[in-house]
Amino acid sequence: MALKLDKNLYGFVTEQELCSMQGAVDDAVNKIKNKTGAGSEYLGWVDLPVTYDREEFERIKTAAEEIKKCDVFIVIGIGGSYLGARAAIEFIKSPLYNTLKKDTPDIYFAGNNISTSALNELLEICEGKDICINVISKSGKTTEPAIAFRIFRKYLIDKYGEAEANKRIYVTTDKAKGALKTLASKKENGYESFVVPDDIGGRYSVLSAVGLLPIAVAGIDIDAIMNGALQARNDLYCGPSDNDCYRYAAIRNILYNKNKVIEILASYDSALIMTAEWWKQLFGESEGKDGKGIFPASVTFTTDLHSLGQIIQAGKRNIFETVIFIKDSDKDIFIENDADDLDELNYISKQYLSLHDINKCAFRATVMAHVSGGVPNILFELDSRDAANFGYMVYFFELACAVSGYMLGVNPFDQPGVEEYKNNMFELLGKNKNK
Ligand code: PA5
Repeated sequence: MALKLDKNLYGFVTEQELCSMQGAVDDAVNKIKNKTGAGSEYLGWVDLPVTYDREEFERIKTAAEEIKKCDVFIVIGIGGSYLGARAAIEFIKSPLYNTLKKDTPDIYFAGNNISTSALNELLEICEGKDICINVISKSGKTTEPAIAFRIFRKYLIDKYGEAEANKRIYVTTDKAKGALKTLASKKENGYESFVVPDDIGGRYSVLSAVGLLPIAVAGIDIDAIMNGALQARNDLYCGPSDNDCYRYAAIRNILYNKNKVIEILASYDSALIMTAEWWKQLFGESEGKDGKGIFPASVTFTTDLHSLGQIIQAGKRNIFETVIFIKDSDKDIFIENDADDLDELNYISKQYLSLHDINKCAFRATVMAHVSGGVPNILFELDSRDAANFGYMVYFFELACAVSGYMLGVNPFDQPGVEEYKNNMFELLGKNKNK
């Protein structure tokens, strides 16, 4: 299990430049280790693979077994309160999880937008199905999930009656404060509740109950995820400081200082689409402040080579790519010989190349093309799409993000800029006038 960095940066970043960053890396790491950096009250994720609450972990597994009896599980949350779980399910199971043959419920995510049609469609999907919901909000007052929860709570009460509905509502929120906590603690409600630890911010929370309950409901081994994260902590945080994680943080900063202000996370498997969404929030919210930050974008190849390939190859040279290639493939698929060969694919079948071999060639060919077009490529090889590798990857990127954020000179754990739209929206909705 590992996420390995290919050191070859094809002349865009030299070993010398990397060495010269070691002091800045060490300073950033020390800020984390000694809790002396800005936002250090949110470093709970660093030790989580060691210190996580075993009693709650077992409760998560028990609740997941109960929830597995239903047909449809609705996970209500936004940002860090949903992206990690969705990323894990799509990465480890499949982006087509809901349509797979399985003995676990279909899982839908709500409360991550304010689209009327999305909510109507989901309510329609629920018709005639047995439903459970998990509402996740650390603050317990975020508008989007609050709207969805109000609607689904009423839906459950109308469908099952209050007492039964209450047994089907699982709440993940702050241990002491917030509207959700108050609602969950009301004796007449008695919702089963899980805690978002005080010292872990939303985008760093996937390895807490926030991510683990929905992930466990999908039938994924959450022990294996935590073991993967623990392995990453041992290798990276507790290991030698010239490791791939810190090197990645340093390379990003070197490239940023050379005006490469957009980082595109590229993968060759649609199972990584939601992981990229999770990664974008992690890096975007952590670094984009004080007029600084690398804009995180993502592509899935080879699909996007037929849409965004052109601009990556030959557009403004302010981008770099971070490419994740998954080493192991699923059951191989081979292309059979065809007598007519009208599509001219027999040259592939003659060589017994699998689809995975072809994908690997596409990967190598694209790296060569983009690098020669002036786009630095940071290459990662991920062993496989299992739970342990997911846990490893999560910890790797969380640590890299914190180190990179400190190197950039920002607080990687706050998100003051997110409030601006909310204040405007509340003003337009007349929140304070109509209370
Ligand atoms: O990373 C963060 O803190 C945010 O993006 C939150 O995850 C997001 O805004 C949802 O917040 P909450 O869990 O309080 O509803």
